[in-house]
Amino acid sequence: MHILVTGGAGYIGSHTSVVLLEAGHEVIIVDNLSNSKIETIDRIKQITKKELIFYQEDVTDEAAVDAIFSNHSFDGVIHFAGFKAVGESVEFPLKYYYNNTVSTMVLAKYCLKYGVKQFVFSSSATVYGENDVPFVETMELLPTTNPYGETKVISERILTDVAKANPDFAVSLLRYFNPVGAHESGLIGEDPQGIPNNLMPYITKVAKGKLEKLRIFGNDYPTPDGTGVRDYIHVMDLAEGHVAALEKLTPGVHVYNLGTGRGISVLELVKTFEEVNGVKVPYEIVGRRPGDIAESYADVSKAKAELGWTAKRGIREMCRDAWRYECGV
Ligand code: NAD
Ligand code: WQD
Repeated sequence: MHILVTGGAGYIGSHTSVVLLEAGHEVIIVDNLSNSKIETIDRIKQITKKELIFYQEDVTDEAAVDAIFSNHSFDGVIHFAGFKAVGESVEFPLKYYYNNTVSTMVLAKYCLKYGVKQFVFSSSATVYGENDVPFVETMELLPTTNPYGETKVISERILTDVAKANPDFAVSLLRYFNPVGAHESGLIGEDPQGIPNNLMPYITKVAKGKLEKLRIFGNDYPTPDGTGVRDYIHVMDLAEGHVAALEKLTPGVHVYNLGTGRGISVLELVKTFEEVNGVKVPYEIVGRRPGDIAESYADVSKAKAELGWTAKRGIREMCRDAWRYECGV
């Protein structure tokens, strides 16, 4: 298949492009490089020893998107492009609502114009809000605590309505849990600009001595050790989940959780990271971070039953590969 990968120079998009190329698909990436580097495109080629086409364009720009669609005959689109920093979305809501929802609408519009019928969307477990764990796809979505989360809810609704109005349009809404780790080559991975917001990149930078110590946000949650519990998923498993979703896509809207189904606490992750990599991660316990929930993990039975996909890599591989990437960059 010929697949347009928006945001393909970013963290999850680059790993998914590797898996797509290795599965024999043609990959066309469009990315404005607002949160990624051009080198990643060469790294994807280096890993796969395959060619791909890259456009440096903004997918909210209709003329640019129209031109890309007119140059190719796509079988499907995987839409990763978007902004993802939760805290920044509270400070600059319009920037987030605009980029994340307009990009979705523009891409859906040009899919319809050019007869592209398969659309895979990067959603997030954040759409479940404070539902009880494990999160199941059939749950009613509860308010998220930030504009970023709302952009995912709104984009899911937009795509659902587009599919309702166009019965041959096929949409897969993939709700990612907490992606971590890197390609095992160490050539691509997560490289946030400035001080990381997310736990794993913070841990790797503390272990490397680039940051002094980890601050653990709260140890008074109703969890086994009091720290927050999340469903961390290896980014390569997540990437494989996209290819499974794409290859099984049928008309209508399909929602899938992509996680491992297993909750890990902050302290468990820190201890595993230290043990697997033989390094120290100094930490201190501080107050809760506003907007955080106690627990988030997936019910993964639907993806297993319908896509034949399950996460294969465990927490030790996630820690090993995140560290390998940190040591290479
Ligand atoms: P990322 O920032 O590494 O990748 C996103 C890419 O999109 C970047 O390369 C950026 O330059 C590009 N981009 C942003 N706006 C664009 C635009 N208007 N036009 C063209 N390119 C644009 O983020 P990621 O972690 O790879 O996330 C990918 C997607 O998955 C995002 O939609 C994100 O919201 C979603 N998601 C991420 C996580 C996570 O924890 N990383 C969890 C759930 C969902
Ligand atoms: C994980 C755990 C923190 C940093 C976010 C988004 C979500 C999704 C994934 C995009 C929590 C604790 C963290 C630190 C800590 N992204 N923590 N010290 O908050 O589950 O999810 O990223 O869709 O929408 O909200 O991930 O990695 O920030 O936090 O103690 O320095 O680590 O409190 O329990 P989160 P995270």
